[in-house]
Amino acid sequence: MAEFDLVVRGGTVVTGADMFPADIGIRAGRIAAIADTLTGAEVLDASGMLVMPGGVDTHCHIEQLQPGGLADEETFTTGSISCLAGGTTTAITFAMQFKGERIRDTLAEYHRRARQAMIDYSFHQIITDPTDEVVFQEIPEIVASGIRSLKVFLTYDPLHLDDREYLRVLAAARRTGALVTVHCENYQAIGERSRALLADGKTGPKYHAWSRPKVIEREATYRAIALAELIDQPIQVFHVSCAEVAAEIARAQARGLKVWAETCPQYFVLRAQDMDRPGFEGAKFMCSPAPREREDQAALWQDVRRGTLDVISSDHSGWSYHGSRGKRVNGETAAFPDIPNGVPGLAARLPLIFSEGVAKGHIDPCAFVRLVAANPARMFGLYPRKGTIAPGSDADLVVFDPHKKMTLTNALMQQAIDYTPYEGIDVTGWPVATVKSGRVVMREGKVQAEPGSGRFLARGPYDLIKPLGVVPDGFDQASVLV
Ligand code: URP
Ligand code: ZN
Ligand code: ZN
Repeated sequence: MAEFDLVVRGGTVVTGADMFPADIGIRAGRIAAIADTLTGAEVLDASGMLVMPGGVDTHCHIEQLQPGGLADEETFTTGSISCLAGGTTTAITFAMQFKGERIRDTLAEYHRRARQAMIDYSFHQIITDPTDEVVFQEIPEIVASGIRSLKVFLTYDPLHLDDREYLRVLAAARRTGALVTVHCENYQAIGERSRALLADGKTGPKYHAWSRPKVIEREATYRAIALAELIDQPIQVFHVSCAEVAAEIARAQARGLKVWAETCPQYFVLRAQDMDRPGFEGAKFMCSPAPREREDQAALWQDVRRGTLDVISSDHSGWSYHGSRGKRVNGETAAFPDIPNGVPGLAARLPLIFSEGVAKGHIDPCAFVRLVAANPARMFGLYPRKGTIAPGSDADLVVFDPHKKMTLTNALMQQAIDYTPYEGIDVTGWPVATVKSGRVVMREGKVQAEPGSGRFLARGPYDLIKPLGVVPDGFDQASVLV
C-alpha cells in the first residue's frame, strides 16, 4: 500500500516564510510529510511549478441576500467553482442583518445556502441594527457558534451605522472576543456631495468617484480607528484604496494599536477613468471605495511592502452587466447612486496579484503567499490549519506556473457574473491545479468537485485579536452593559 494518498511531486514549496524544493505527502486530507522523495497512490507532477497554500479570500460576497429576499447571482456552487479555478480554497463570505432583523434567523439561512459549497468557508456577520437584543444576546451567541468576526459599514443606505451604533458593536465585540471589520467612508459627506453632483447634472458612472474622493475614505478611517481605540477593540479596515488612507493605518500601528488593513486587486489595476468609458460601460468598474489613479497604485505597493496593508482579498461582488438583476437594475440611464457597487474577482485575485506583484518585482513569492493566504488565515483565526504548508495543515494547495502568460477573459473566471472588469489584461503566472482537502479539484482550468464537499469553519478564540488592555483614563466603558 502506498504511504500517501496523494503526492505533489517535484515542485518548489512556497510558504509565507520560505521556499524550497520538496515533495508533499498527503494523507486523509491533511499534509502528512514534506520531504525529498515521496511515493503515493496518486501523484500530481509539479515540476517547474510553485506549490503554495490554497488562497484564503477573507472578503467576498457570495449568495448574499438583497433587500426583498433576492440573493446575489453568485451562488455557493458557482462561487466555489470560480474560487477553485483561481486557486482559492477557503473563503469568508457575509451574512447580512437588515434593519429590524434578528441575526439568528438570517444566519441560519446562510448556513443552509452554504451547504452547497465546494470550498471551506466561514462568515462575517454584518451588523446594521445593533439593538439591545443584538448586542447583549445575539452577538455573544453567534460568536460562540464560531462566527468570530463582525462587519460594519460606515456608509451606504440602508446599511450604515452612526458613531453611537458603531461604538455599541465595538463594545459587543470586545466583550465576546470577535474582530470587527469596517467599511470606511463618510456617509453624510457622500450624501451631500452626491446631491450637489446630481443637481449640477453630473449623473454618469464616472461621478461615482467624484462623490467619494480619498478624503472621505481617510476621514472615516481615522474615525473608525479612534473609536476602536476608545473601546480597546481590534479592527481590520477593509478595501484600502490609497496611500493617504494607509497613512492613517500606519500611524495607528506605529502607536501599537491593533489595527490591520486589507486592499484588493482592483486598486492595483483599475482606475477612476475606467468609469468614464462610453455609454453604460463605466458601470462595470464601479466599486467603493472608487478606483483611484496610476500614482496611487504605485504608492499602494509601498504600503504592502511596509506591511501596513497585509491582506489582499477580492471583495468579489455579484452584479452582472447585462440582464435586469445586476448593474442595470435601475436601467442604463440610472444616475450613479442608483447603480449597484462592486466588482467580481474570485478567480482573478491570485493571477493578478502574482503578475502585478511578483512578476513586476514589487514583492517576492513568500510575500505573495502572506498576502493572499497566510495573513488572511492568521487574521481570522484559521492559521495554521489554513494558509500554510506544514504537517497537520489541511491539504489545500495551488500549483502555480510562474511563467505562464494568459490574457484574462470572463470565461476563465468560471463565475456566474457575466463580465470581468479585468477583461483583456495580460498576466504572467497562472494556477494550473488546485488541491482541496487532499483531492485534485482543478487541473488546467477544469474544476471537478462535489457540491457540499466544503466545510464550515467554526472559529474559536485566538490571541491576535485579544484587546490591548489599555483604555483612556482607565475607564473600560465596554464592561458596562449599556
Ligand atoms: O463596492 C463594493 N465594495 N461593494 C461590495 C460591498 C462592500 O462595500 O464591501
Ligand atoms: Zn465595503
Ligand atoms: Zn465587500
